[in-house]
Amino acid sequence: MKLKKLYRRHLRYPLWRVVHPFAPYERYYAWVVTRKLRRGRAHPAIGPTAKAARGEREMIKVMLQHGLQAHHAFVDYGCGSLRLGRPIIELLEPGKFWGLDLAQDFLDAGLDYVGAELAAQKQPNLRVIDDAGLAAAKAARPDFIGSWHVCGKIPDQILDSFFGKVLGLMHAGTHVFLQFEDTGKREQLHGLAWSLPEATVIAAVRRVDPQLKVDIVELTKRRHRNMRYLCAHVRY
Ligand SMILES: C[S@@+](CC[C@H](N)C(=O)[O-])C[C@H]1O[C@@H](n2cnc3c(N)ncnc32)[C@H](O)[C@@H]1O
Repeated sequence: MKLKKLYRRHLRYPLWRVVHPFAPYERYYAWVVTRKLRRGRAHPAIGPTAKAARGEREMIKVMLQHGLQAHHAFVDYGCGSLRLGRPIIELLEPGKFWGLDLAQDFLDAGLDYVGAELAAQKQPNLRVIDDAGLAAAKAARPDFIGSWHVCGKIPDQILDSFFGKVLGLMHAGTHVFLQFEDTGKREQLHGLAWSLPEATVIAAVRRVDPQLKVDIVELTKRRHRNMRYLCAHVRY
């Protein structure tokens, strides 16, 4: 294993933990990505170099298939810099889009990406994930919640709190779509990403509320290194 890879996978987190013994894991994730962006290094998903590998309509396509309309309230949970959120902002009526993420830097990069004109026209609500941000998004009574390329960034120790927060935004009529990748077992894919077996997702949802229904949908038949590209559709 190359030294850099070894550091990212096995050393960076324990070293950070020594300096931040009581900080939540989410702060570590935000620190790694923010540091990279501030150093002007390219990130594939957040900031000025972000690219939507499968096209920027990847998330909106699923929402439209399930009935998303302009008057609906939508939460993009772990929205990053809105690379997949922008087409949904364009579709929705003003004030109906909620983008939530760990760091204000990511949301600021999102505003840059959306541009002043669209932001002024559609008034997206962009909030950091904290008690106030979560309460405000829940009060908007989301009809749809999408979370793309986020579940795979959640390590075991915060899996239950992650599902608790995102599913805690639901009301009886909310449809939630959680995209994830499954190689058949729980394994680390890179420094900040893990494969998530579908049974683990279903169990985590049921631990939040056993009454929730979960359907696992395969988003594409194309596979990269035996990885299934899936989405959990959660609803009451
Ligand atoms: C690969 S990026 C994807 C961003 C965006 N969803 C997209 O597809 O363009 C992963 C995102 O998940 C967010 N994230 C990571 N851990 C999270 C957590 N525990 N709760 C909420 N968001 C999280 C990150 O801050 C980051 O914006």
